[in-house]
Amino acid sequence: MNKNVRAKIVDLVPYKVSSTNYRWTLNANESPINLFDDWQDEIMAELKSESINLYPSANCDELRNLLANINGCLADNIVCGNGSDEIIKMVTEVFIDQNDKVVIPTPTFSEYFTSVTVAGGDIIPIKSKTDFSFDVDAIIEAANQNQAKLIFLCVPNNPTGLATKTSDIERIVNETQSIIAIDEAYFEFYGKTSALLAIENERLIVMRTLSKAFGVAGIRLGYAIANPNTIDLIQRVRMPYNISALTQAVARVAVRNFEQIQSITQIMIEERERMVSQLSLLDLEIMESHTNFILYRSKKFEILMEKFEAERIGVRVYPKDPMLRNCIRISLGTKEANDAVIAVFKEVVNNV
Ligand SMILES: Cc1ncc(COP(=O)(O)O)c(C=O)c1O
Repeated sequence: MNKNVRAKIVDLVPYKVSSTNYRWTLNANESPINLFDDWQDEIMAELKSESINLYPSANCDELRNLLANINGCLADNIVCGNGSDEIIKMVTEVFIDQNDKVVIPTPTFSEYFTSVTVAGGDIIPIKSKTDFSFDVDAIIEAANQNQAKLIFLCVPNNPTGLATKTSDIERIVNETQSIIAIDEAYFEFYGKTSALLAIENERLIVMRTLSKAFGVAGIRLGYAIANPNTIDLIQRVRMPYNISALTQAVARVAVRNFEQIQSITQIMIEERERMVSQLSLLDLEIMESHTNFILYRSKKFEILMEKFEAERIGVRVYPKDPMLRNCIRISLGTKEANDAVIAVFKEVVNNV
């Protein structure tokens, strides 16, 4: 290891993605539907309108207007990022200095830990209750006792799929002094948002992505919704021209086709309900999902994993987290992929 490396970086593990050639890739909560063919003409027209010899719109002006439109806010309430991963990084950079405290309920999305560690902050993990619901009292107490600068809340949460009640989010806002970054990556599958609260309250930031319901993970586009004063702070750390002209062009098409996205989302929600009803008679724990994935827990974990591997179905597991022992997170796929998942469970897991 190079002796000049910062101490905080030494223990970080690079983000790795399995490159296995699965029949169905259900391990990253992407959309199973590639809309490129549907949108090809619109995308080509948008691309032609870009001058790729020039830098792109520095602040994604047209895209922010479209995003503001579907969210019932103003473009000044929005900043775009290279995926919501970049939003998480920018929010951390704005508020976290060496040894500042950040409260993170666990288990949750890993990028909060990476961003805070890179910024030099200290993480205060708050273990969720055994039913995976966030321990709201413990979050509030830890934030106040440690004068936490920032709290990350993933609503609905990845990897559990559970959503924290709006009244609990309001309690955390009202009973702490921290900045609260609410990750709504799966908002479209849930329907409830803290966006209006964030527009009013400078201590709240809502983070969104086009990688899940909108089905364009490949272009890398995330955004934050917040009060203009908070957006102004994030703008200070944003890299110039962080969103390429190509990404802006495709993102505009995706957002303009919001109605189509809404009907696809509805189909995914129906698929989620179908899976739960098909599997509910099995001796299998199924967490209540408000997302496009479901977390399962089974005593037959090892046999299930062998079977998923044999069927070349990519799923996600958490060998390092004791709370997620025997848990498998599986994204919703096409009907055919979902049927393949159901078949594996029915073959391996007995009826109750
Ligand atoms: C909760 C959560 N936030 C953020 C992201 C990252 O999304 P993006 O593709 O916009 O960087 C993910 C991706 O899986 C996620 O699950």
